[in-house]
Amino acid sequence: MTDFELVEKINKLKKEKNAIILAHCYQNPEIDEVADYVGDSLGLSRLASKTDAEIIVFAGVYFMAETAKILSPNKKVLLPNRNSGCNMADMINLKQVREFKEKNPGVPLVCYVNSSAEVKAECDICCTSANAVDIVKSLGEKKVLFAPDCYLGSFVAKSLPDIEIISYPGFCPTHLRIIPDEIVKMKIMYKDAKILVHPECHQEVVKLADFTGSTTQIMQYCANSNAKSFIIATEKGVVDRLRRDFPDKEFILASDKLVCHNMKWNTLEDIYNSLLYGQYEVDVEEKIRLKALKSIQRMIEAK
Ligand code: 13P
Ligand code: SF4
Repeated sequence: MTDFELVEKINKLKKEKNAIILAHCYQNPEIDEVADYVGDSLGLSRLASKTDAEIIVFAGVYFMAETAKILSPNKKVLLPNRNSGCNMADMINLKQVREFKEKNPGVPLVCYVNSSAEVKAECDICCTSANAVDIVKSLGEKKVLFAPDCYLGSFVAKSLPDIEIISYPGFCPTHLRIIPDEIVKMKIMYKDAKILVHPECHQEVVKLADFTGSTTQIMQYCANSNAKSFIIATEKGVVDRLRRDFPDKEFILASDKLVCHNMKWNTLEDIYNSLLYGQYEVDVEEKIRLKALKSIQRMIEAK
């Protein structure tokens, strides 16, 4: 089947089955042709908690689909391709999060949504890259544990110097592929370009940024800025979308290595099969779901 035929069939199946397709902006750009919403982890979580659809097809990685299931237990949540995991989320399991807490008794734990349901169930509140600073601040504590991303943890610590952040040593292999030298070289070539960085990058890269934010925040910055060119230090999918949405502006990917292969597994054919055969259903044990739900809801409701 051609992509055009697949898009038609997917849209027909979506209506017949009362399904919604949520896509992260790191997905292959053709996925946008069938997506009802494209955004960052925070926007996608909010939408998953509100939709009336009976089926949510999550074009993203496993922890995102799992978060949707935690928020919408009565809906069928489908991950189109079984391989879509997240290396960072896999760096911390139940035993490791418990040990992290035991080493720091009485200190509240903020958990990045890039983690499993079991890990979320152990924390006090979740956060995404879009709201990590606000969430940590909202606790009003002097000391906070942060897991699993130590680089997002460093970004929060830098933004909130009065709070001691103790980070778990997890990281995103994709974002760590950007090295400061590459950005410096780019800046020499594109003197007027703004440097926009995802907070999962190394602090030395974040230091060079004109703006640091989530994928959606980076896209909003480009939409609102008068600048004409931008060096983008996050996954390639963001640059693909920016080039399509703002053809008069110039977007330079900070490094060719900025591809998250986990995110790129999902194809239009996978989405079609997902809707047709109801595969691959994501489920969360009820006891864990209820505990994880508290942490996610606390985040969604936080100001
Ligand atoms: P956002 O929070 O910007 O959606 O990013 C999620 C992610 O996985 C980044 O690597
Ligand atoms: Fe996980 Fe990194 Fe891929 Fe985001 S970019 S999904 S943190 S591996």
